[in-house]
Amino acid sequence: MEILVKNDYNQMSIAAAEIIAGLIRKKPDCVLGFATGGTPIGTYRELIRMHKENGLDFSNVKTFNLDEYLGIGINLEKPYELDQSYARFMYEELFKHINIKKENINLPDGLAKEPDNFCQWYEIEIKKAGGIDIQLLGIGADGHWAFNEPGSSLASRTRVQALTKQTLDDNYESFYKKANIKRQNMPHYAITMGIGTILESRHALMIASGAQKAAIVSEALEGCITSKVTASALQLHPGKVTVILDSAAASKLTWSIKY
Ligand code: GLP
Repeated sequence: MEILVKNDYNQMSIAAAEIIAGLIRKKPDCVLGFATGGTPIGTYRELIRMHKENGLDFSNVKTFNLDEYLGIGINLEKPYELDQSYARFMYEELFKHINIKKENINLPDGLAKEPDNFCQWYEIEIKKAGGIDIQLLGIGADGHWAFNEPGSSLASRTRVQALTKQTLDDNYESFYKKANIKRQNMPHYAITMGIGTILESRHALMIASGAQKAAIVSEALEGCITSKVTASALQLHPGKVTVILDSAAASKLTWSIKY
């Protein structure tokens, strides 16, 4: 596991975008796993800048997103319909600014009529695409990856998952409150890639920033491997692992950043 500590959010974002852009240049038809939340926004902005200023070409890139709330979703044909889906987030924060082909974008479908069947289909699509080359990951306040809440099996696959109160509270603040949606009306379930699915990516790239993430980052990287902190599964990843932190998020790490 390689842990890179950068001065601030901006430097963290640039470093993550450089790794992703490096792969796109080397393997133009690579498969990228994307994440949502506040943390990856800077990485997406830097990728957009690289596309606009340096011609970074997404035309053959395929993407799979980690998760989506159940009961909402977006038709990419009508992207301006207001909703709080992660699909819309991805469209606004990245996809509409780059030359990615619509048919190469894969998003969990929060509006799927049969969500369990959809989850199985999503797993098959990832396999058919040849697997994920780089999976970008954030970390939730309780140490979750995607929506793999505490107690999720470390071998779990894409599935429907109930959200914890803490995750609902955090995501209410960052997404739903702004849209004037009442707390009780936000979705309480989500479709999420499983921990087992994420561990099959060839390169896991986790980013975290800010002092509020320092304790959970240290639990995930230096603590026990436990389903209580599903991001601790990073320690089990059989492939390449890169963690990029700003100095505040790294401030509680001890032995793992000594070399
Ligand atoms: C949500 C997402 C996660 C993300 C987390 C943290 O729960 N499902 O994928 O890592 O939020 O978000 P933020 O980066 O805003 O702290």
